[in-house]
Order: sequence, then C-alpha cells, then structure tokens
Amino acid sequence: MPEIIPTTHALGADIVGIDLAAPLSAGDFGFIYQAWMRHLVLRFRDQSLTDDQLLAFSRNFGPLDRNPRHAKSERQMEDSSDYVNVISNVVENGRAIGGLGHYEAKWHSDMSYNPVPAMASALYALEVPPAGGDTSFASMYSALETLDEATRERIANLGCVHDSSLNSVGQLRVGFEEVTDPRKTPGAVHPLVRTHPITGRRCLFLGRRRNAYIPGMELADSEALLDMLWTHATATEHTWTQQWRVGDLVLWDNRAALHRREDFDGTTRRVMHRTQIGGDRPF
Ligand code: SIN
Repeated sequence: MPEIIPTTHALGADIVGIDLAAPLSAGDFGFIYQAWMRHLVLRFRDQSLTDDQLLAFSRNFGPLDRNPRHAKSERQMEDSSDYVNVISNVVENGRAIGGLGHYEAKWHSDMSYNPVPAMASALYALEVPPAGGDTSFASMYSALETLDEATRERIANLGCVHDSSLNSVGQLRVGFEEVTDPRKTPGAVHPLVRTHPITGRRCLFLGRRRNAYIPGMELADSEALLDMLWTHATATEHTWTQQWRVGDLVLWDNRAALHRREDFDGTTRRVMHRTQIGGDRPF
C-alpha cells in the first residue's frame, strides 16, 4: 500500500511507494483519490513515464480535456497528441516546443475562463532548470475559511468574470483583443465562492486576477474587493511550493487550489508534460 506524507503547509502531500507507470489497482486508486480530496495537491516522486502512461494515469480521474492553445506554441498547433500539453521554454529549429516560455505564470486556476473549467491537472517533469521554475499552490478552502465573517457574507452570492483573452504568462490568445476595460472582459462568469462537488466544502474561486470583474459593481469597488481577496488568498499561510526534480508528477485540484509558476533563466531548459481532466460547471 502506498503511504501519504503531508506537507506541513495548508495543502500538498507526497504519495510514496507507488509506480505510476503500471495500471492502478482499485485499492490504490481509492487511496490516492481520498488523499487528493484531503490535500488538494499530490506529488509522486521518482516516476518514469511515457506520454501514454501519463495519459493512462490521468484518465483514472475522468475524461481528459484537449490542450488549450498557447499563443507562442507553434508545434502544438500541429501536434497529433491532443491531450498532452507541452509546457516548455525550449526552442528547437527556431520553433517553441511548448507553451509559457520561461516567464512567471501568475496565480490562476487552469481554464477557469471556460464555462466548464478543468477539474484537475497533472504535470510531469522531464527536464528541470538548475534554479527557478518552482510552482506554488494555494488552498482556496483555507483562504475562504480565514476570511472575516462580514466579507464572507458580502461575497457569498457574487460572481466574477474570468478573463479568456490572456494566458497565465500574459500572452494574448489567438483571436482576442487586449482588454482595456474590465467591464468588457471576455470569459465565463463563475461564483466567487463555490462548493466542491465531491467534498461539499466551500472555497474561494478566483481563477485569475488580470481583467477580472464582479458584474453589477462599480469598477473601482470591484477592483478594491478583488485586490483584497487576492492578497488574502495568496498569503503564505495558504500556500506550498513545489521545487521540481526530474520524475516528479504533481496532480492538483483546480476547483479548490490556485497555482503560479515563478520565472527562470531562459538559457536553461525546462520541459514538462501536462494533462487536464475535465470538470463540471462551478456552483
Ligand atoms: C501551469 O500553469 O499549468 C504551468 C505550471 C508550471 O509550469 O509549473
């Protein structure tokens, strides 16, 4: 039986004693699923996975979403693998092999700009830079539970627009124009506070800060409230940071966790393969 070693932070745990290259038994899957619901982010170290094995592991959790298209990733436009998304700064023969480059990826929840955002993401490290490129996670359970009562009441029935025009490193997606007025931001509107469909726990659902807007509010009030919520939600007490090693696979729950990636030296190499598991409409 595998073992769980929780981080000492608001979220995150290592699962040790399991080889994800092999099919998961029902018992091991149940164990992993329960640990995941409890800790939101699971790390499996020292794995050696082909894309097919990464896909097979990910499909245990539900049907997969197709790749989002990154602004700078030419290869992905013609890649036959629709379900393995390459996240990399590496350029080969003048072409980017993946998305997001070496830039900081701001706090976000994957594909939250869609009406039905991704439930989960699995990120597997093939090459990591000697420094930088760490990925931090923030628990939106803990963020909501530590908000003062008055703010919780104030936001209980509010929605928020999640910008679909920019990706997490600030690149304009193909077919979008730059947003100059957040009241006109394109993207899905989701509740600011959602209920996790499996655990039944309530959590903040902030998605992404840039161009966010709370419909029905004066712009200045929306900006002030969102700034306050984001500062609170991403405070260190709610976070844990993953320092990557080759062979790490990290699985996270986009419904109740945000993540961000720090930048790194663009002359070094970082190659990650990511899958996304489909979700349901936030409520
Ligand atoms: C992502 O935002 O999904 C990428 C995270 C990373 O590159 O660590």
